[in-house]
Amino acid sequence: MKKSQQKERNQNSSKILLNFINNKIMDSQAINDDVLTSSKNAVLMSSVPLPGDILQIQGYDWNKGIDYHNLFESYKLSGFQATNFGLGVDEIKKMMDCKKIPLSVDQIDSFEQDEFIKRQSSCTMFLGYTSNMVSCGVRESIRFLVQHKMVDCIVTTAGGVEEDLIKCLAPTYLGKFEYDGKNLRDKGLNRIGNMIVPNSNYCLFEDWLMPKLDKMLKDQEEKGMLWSPSKIITRLGEEINNEESICYWAAKNKIPIFSPALTDGSLGDMMYFHSFKNPGLVVDILSDLKRLNTIAVKAINTGIIIIGGGVIKHHICNANLMRNGADFAVFLNTASEFDGSDSGARPDEAVSWGKIRKTATPVKIYAEASLIFPLLVGETFAREFHLAKNSSTSDTEEITKK
Ligand SMILES: NC(=O)c1ccc[n+]([C@@H]2O[C@H](COP(=O)([O-])OP(=O)(O)OC[C@H]3O[C@@H](n4cnc5c(N)ncnc54)[C@H](O)[C@@H]3O)[C@@H](O)[C@H]2O)c1
Repeated sequence: MKKSQQKERNQNSSKILLNFINNKIMDSQAINDDVLTSSKNAVLMSSVPLPGDILQIQGYDWNKGIDYHNLFESYKLSGFQATNFGLGVDEIKKMMDCKKIPLSVDQIDSFEQDEFIKRQSSCTMFLGYTSNMVSCGVRESIRFLVQHKMVDCIVTTAGGVEEDLIKCLAPTYLGKFEYDGKNLRDKGLNRIGNMIVPNSNYCLFEDWLMPKLDKMLKDQEEKGMLWSPSKIITRLGEEINNEESICYWAAKNKIPIFSPALTDGSLGDMMYFHSFKNPGLVVDILSDLKRLNTIAVKAINTGIIIIGGGVIKHHICNANLMRNGADFAVFLNTASEFDGSDSGARPDEAVSWGKIRKTATPVKIYAEASLIFPLLVGETFAREFHLAKNSSTSDTEEITKK
């Protein structure tokens, strides 16, 4: 082959190679463009326009200063459980507003003999709490509500009653979740989470309670008194005579405290011991069920606030079934619904049973109550109470100035 022919041939093959490479580059460019377009379409898929009144997420601006009321008001737009807290505040305010509507003449419950179940207002408020709420500092928030007649009917477990009474005899102490159980047992110290209750507190309780049980038995035998858990709790509230106690204020303000499982706690232990020393005391739970359900049936509207789950949650919801459901509801607990527990059930499950009305706007706050309940009270009942008190004080000042 001639040199010129060879050169031409080489040039041709280079051209072919170049064309081939160019084509490949163009092919891969096309593929890249396709991938980019389809990913972009997936990631940046166009949205439907949102309704004009939809709210935007916005947290608290600390540049505005430290103002806890403004902070808690901002929660509703913060998302997650902060939003549920804000909705819970709104739901409780609705109950409070409904309570202020005066009863009409035909709604006044003049014939009811039992002062504890007599209809008091346009919205009958049910409050439920687990025992540990009284062991911890939530007790003081509950006491405030009962002291100022902000709730009408209470359901709690045995610990919710006895811990309140025992605290009038001796304190509960701050400990640690990590304290060793065997060690504590050797020292006669009982642990509730990160709190400590010495066994000596229960000994004091026994000394205080036994004569009261003797007296109740005497009233049963001599006066035909039929004791129910709520009647026992009222008697104990009268006897404790201590303004720090929930039971004291409940007895004074004629607010019934129901506790269908009253024997499941130290109170039950004491009643068990008493049944050997001085047998015969009868506790009737059915008459309490009648009292509780009657309160619900008589109510014009009902609001339910339930801290925690178990018996207290269901007992209140079930009473509200008797009137085709509560009108307002706030649940505050840590329980989840995936296990099918009543504790974890969202309000919507109660709607399906007729325990909350279909028209209601119930709220569940998933949170630990010692942290949240005092804040809920602070943003609702306590806030309104102190605003009213301050405005009446300034009114008086104005009048005296004049
Ligand atoms: N201090 C006490 O807790 C105490 C004392 C004596 C007797 N007892 C007895 O133990 C038994 C079980 O107690 P219980 O029925 O009152 O309730 P519990 O302690 O079994 O709680 C029931 C549910 O309420 C929710 N809950 C409880 N604490 C909560 C919190 N801090 N924040 C949010 N959610 C919470 C959880 O979902 C929990 O599963 C009762 O019979 C009671 O009398 C308890």
